[in-house]
Order: sequence, then C-alpha cells, then structure tokens
Amino acid sequence: MSKLTLDRMLQSQGFGSRKWCRQLVEDGEVTVNGEPADDYRLALDPDHLVFTVFGEEWIYRQHVYIALNKPVDIECSRKPSHHPGVLTLLPEQFTWREVQPVGRLDHDTTGLLLMSDDGAFIHAQSSPRRHVPKVYVATTHDPVTDELLERLRRGVQLHDEPAPLAAQRCARVSEHELEIVLEQGKYHQVKRMLAAAGNHCSALRRIAIGGLMLDALGLAPGQWCYLVPEQLALLAPAAP
Ligand code: URA
Repeated sequence: MSKLTLDRMLQSQGFGSRKWCRQLVEDGEVTVNGEPADDYRLALDPDHLVFTVFGEEWIYRQHVYIALNKPVDIECSRKPSHHPGVLTLLPEQFTWREVQPVGRLDHDTTGLLLMSDDGAFIHAQSSPRRHVPKVYVATTHDPVTDELLERLRRGVQLHDEPAPLAAQRCARVSEHELEIVLEQGKYHQVKRMLAAAGNHCSALRRIAIGGLMLDALGLAPGQWCYLVPEQLALLAPAAP
C-alpha cells in the first residue's frame, strides 16, 4: 500500500479535518507504532500501523466492517427523527468515516446489523440479486399455526408488490415464536408478511445473515465488533 502522511492517515481514520489532525499531532496527542509523533508530514506505511490518539490505541483500517447487536428504539435512518441513530452506539470516528448500516432494521427490531464505510461492500450486500438469507425470530400475537407457516412458505401478496413474497424457510420455535428466513429485504417485510398471513408481529430479532450468527459474536444489545475476513466470508450467498 502506498505511504500516507500522518495527517492524512489520521483524517482517513475519522479523526477530523486535516487541519484538526495536524493540530492533534502538534499538541503531542499522537503516537505511531509506540513512538511519540510530532511531525504531521511523517510518511507512513499504513499496513499494520498501530497508533494512539489521546492515549487510545487504534489499528489503521482502510475500511471498517462492523457487526452490531442493535437494541430497540434505535433508528437506522440517516436522519433519525424519534430515537437516537445507530451511529450513536459507535465511536464518533465512525461518523467521520461515513460508516453506514447495510440495509435497515426498524427502530423496534433488534439483532444483527452490519455496518461499513466500504461503498462497494454495502452495495454488494444490499443488492437484491445477491440472495443472502437473513434469519429472523418473530414473536407473534396469535399462536403460530401450521396454516400460518404454510401460508408464509407458499407466499403472501403485499399490496405494493407485483408478486407474492415467500419465506425461504420458516419453522415454529414456540407457541408464539417463529423463525423465518428471507432472501429479500423489503420495507417492514416480516411484519407485513405476518399481517398478510393473518397474524401480528409483536417483536422481531435478526439472528443471522448468511452463515454469520449473532450468537457466535457474543455481543450484548448495543455492543459491536469488527468483522474479520473469515466472518465476512460467511456473508457470501449459499452455493446453489
Ligand atoms: N422485516 C421487518 O418487518 N422489519 C425489519 O426490521 C426487518 C425485516
């Protein structure tokens, strides 16, 4: 990877404008690979670069890939209106880096949410052609019946969709809970499908995307982690 000056490197990692990053260096707030750094023109090889700002350690990352266990009452929209936005759960550097959610969960839906500042990754993951299964557990108002599961598997017509939408799989988990797997990510899809099938979704949790399982990440609600390449590989669509 080509070299970066210290001020540009800090800016790329979300520490503010170039001017602000230069000031941080001049104020002695930055170390690089364990050494104090006082010259913002210092040329750095960003590979394996470890630095601190205000004593906090960071590793240089060209892009960040994040999994968050989204709690209730957090909005994924760019301009949240009724609840705090999802970026309030992440370090503020990620807002500067323009980290965004990959797709959206409703404010009252919990569970696995991917976030990144890599536009190509966001685009690829969000593409309807990609067919990455998303696994949800829905709590229902009325008991989960065989007929309900069958209707969801066969497909239900939503009023603004040209064709019925079907669950790739669905199964009863308990009297009032079902697991449903969808390949699409239409607006309020699970809730609308359950309503169209004659029940009501009272709570919804996303437990997996592709082979990436929320439980395996060990994140409490509101916690997040970086995803490593082996975990990103689990997001690939299943082989046909
Ligand atoms: N389906 C919904 O209805 N809501 C979500 O947040 C995700 C899928």
